[in-house]
Amino acid sequence: MQVDILTLFPQMFQSPFSVGIFQRAIDQKLVSINFHDIRHYTYDKHHTVDDYVYGGGAGMVLKPEPVFEAVESIKSDIKSGDSVLPIILLTPQGRLFCQEIAQELSTYRNLILICGHYEGVDERVREHLVTDEISIGDYVLSGGELAAMVVIDAVVRLMPGVLGSEASLLDDSHVSGLLEYPQYTGPPLYRGWSVPQVLLSGNHAQIAKWRREQAILRTLERRPELLDKANLCSDEKRLVDHLLTTGSL
Ligand code: 6GU
Repeated sequence: MQVDILTLFPQMFQSPFSVGIFQRAIDQKLVSINFHDIRHYTYDKHHTVDDYVYGGGAGMVLKPEPVFEAVESIKSDIKSGDSVLPIILLTPQGRLFCQEIAQELSTYRNLILICGHYEGVDERVREHLVTDEISIGDYVLSGGELAAMVVIDAVVRLMPGVLGSEASLLDDSHVSGLLEYPQYTGPPLYRGWSVPQVLLSGNHAQIAKWRREQAILRTLERRPELLDKANLCSDEKRLVDHLLTTGSL
C-alpha cells in the first residue's frame, strides 16, 4: 500500500512512523508513506495556503488551489489503472472512523489523505476533489494530522504481514463486535493476585469458552450498545438477558 499525506506540518509525522510495527512495515516495503507539504503547491511570494472566510467570521480557511494542485500532482504519479483511489479528507464533519472502515481502507492499493486545518477547507475541495471524509471522534482537534496518524495506524496493522501473528487480529477488541477478554501473563501469583485458574488448565475448549464469556461480560459492562451488532448465538443472548434481568453486573 502507498499512502500519500497532504499536510501543512509534515514534520509532525516523523516519530510515529519511525518506530515499532510501522518502521518494520516500511522497511519490508509492505507500505510506503509519502508526505507532501501543501505549502509547496503555492506560487505566490508568501506561499499563502489560507485566507479569510467569505461572508465574514472568525478564523481562516484552507484555499482550494494548493490542495487541488497537490492531489492532482500525486495522482499523476500513481499508476492506479482502473482501481479506485480514495481521496480522504480528515475533518470533524466526516463519517465516524471505526474498525469496519479500517478494514475497508486496508483493501486499497493507494490512499490519499488530506489533513484539514484552520476553521476548515474551502467547500469546493469537498465537492469536487475528495471521495470520502473521515472523523475520528466527536471532539475537535486543531488539525487533521493526528487523525491521519490514527487512521493509518489502524489500517496498516491490518495488512498481511505487518503484525507478527495474523491470528491475534481476530481477537482484537471491536473485530468480533465485542471488547477483548482480559489477558494475563506470568507470574501466576503476583502480590497475592492470581491468574484465573482456567487459563492455566491447558484445556483449550474451556479457555475459549471463558474468553468468549468474559468478552461478552466486559462489553455488557462497558459498551452495552455494541452488543446489538455483535454476532451472539442464542445461548449467549440468553446469558446476556439473564445478566441484565438479574442485575448481576
Ligand atoms: Cl479528522 N480533524 C479535526 N480537526 N478534528 C477532529 C477530527 C479530524 N476527528 C475528530 N476531531
